[in-house]
Amino acid sequence: MTTKILEATEQNLLTAAELIKKGEVVGMPTETVYGLAANALDPSAVKKIFEAKGRPMDNPLIVHVSDTEMIRPLVKEIPPLAQELAKRFWPGPLTIIMPKSDLVPMETSGGLDTVGIRFPSHKAARELIRLSGVPIAAPSANLSGSPSPTTAQHVFDDMNGRIPLIIDGGACAVGVESSVLLLNGDSITVLRPGMISVEELLEITDNVKVDKGVLEMVSNAEKVMSPGMKYKHYSPKADVIILSGSTQSYRRYVSEHTADGVMCMPFEKSDVPDGVKCIPFGKSGEEQAHLLFDCLREFDKLGAKTVYARCPSRNGAGLAVYNRLLRAAGFKIIFL
Ligand code: TXA
Ligand code: MG
Repeated sequence: MTTKILEATEQNLLTAAELIKKGEVVGMPTETVYGLAANALDPSAVKKIFEAKGRPMDNPLIVHVSDTEMIRPLVKEIPPLAQELAKRFWPGPLTIIMPKSDLVPMETSGGLDTVGIRFPSHKAARELIRLSGVPIAAPSANLSGSPSPTTAQHVFDDMNGRIPLIIDGGACAVGVESSVLLLNGDSITVLRPGMISVEELLEITDNVKVDKGVLEMVSNAEKVMSPGMKYKHYSPKADVIILSGSTQSYRRYVSEHTADGVMCMPFEKSDVPDGVKCIPFGKSGEEQAHLLFDCLREFDKLGAKTVYARCPSRNGAGLAVYNRLLRAAGFKIIFL
């Protein structure tokens, strides 16, 4: 199979929608990261997603809709808190877990009796879902374990020969995956942090918890709320090590540890001693979210053996960046 990349024109979105209706998998841009899109209600189409990614079958897929009316048949109920969150943050980078109806196959929900629902804001994603006429299951469009793709080229690099078509909707504005929320009455548990931050959720309710799996390593044996958290994630080939401390201590550590294949991921170029190869990933959480996965892929292309990354803040969008970087680093962090 050869994989085509097509611009997100109406004609090309129609072609993509036809493929989805036929049970195929298509690379779809969203505002967070690119997704591998298929008909969420068709078990054999959904199986093709798992095959293309090499993803374990017990890791559930998020179901994407193009308007809120599409949600009702997919779930047993839409809790009042979900409605409030939807009003505030949809369309946008937020996934809400709800009790699933029988319409959603077990293949899609990874055997769980819940389903994560997301209403993306990216124009091409919404149009593709609308033209397909079905809810769309879409995990991030990377090979399982690799950094998530934020451009059509990243998707091509991982999926060439595995899917027929990628729709090119440009570089993803957000750059990290959606915030995933579990609700219980008036309390919210953040299973995966994203651009919709804890601080913003606190404007809706005082009762916001961050799941332990967000900042800690969970073992395979432990029962985890979000199955994706037990798998190795976002790993470039290089050994990533997070250095937590001041600019000065970062610069000193790096200058004492230069060697062949050692590269840096600082906030800005001036953090790094002259002559050390680096890709800066920005100062604000938003900027870092936008650049993180692209930087991680770039280090592989440059043949980095070790990457010393500066430690992002845990505030706002920073928490999402920190969560992804911790996993890319296999939780290796040095406090300077
Ligand atoms: O931004 C996003 O969410 C992207 C774009 C394509 O929409 N999608 C995405 O999907 O990141 P994926 O499959 O790569 O990550 C979904 C995460 C996984 O960690 C999964 O375990 C968790 O959400 N998840 C999905 N459904 C769940 C459920 N019913 N209960 C608990 N966790 C769930
Ligand atoms: Mg993923």
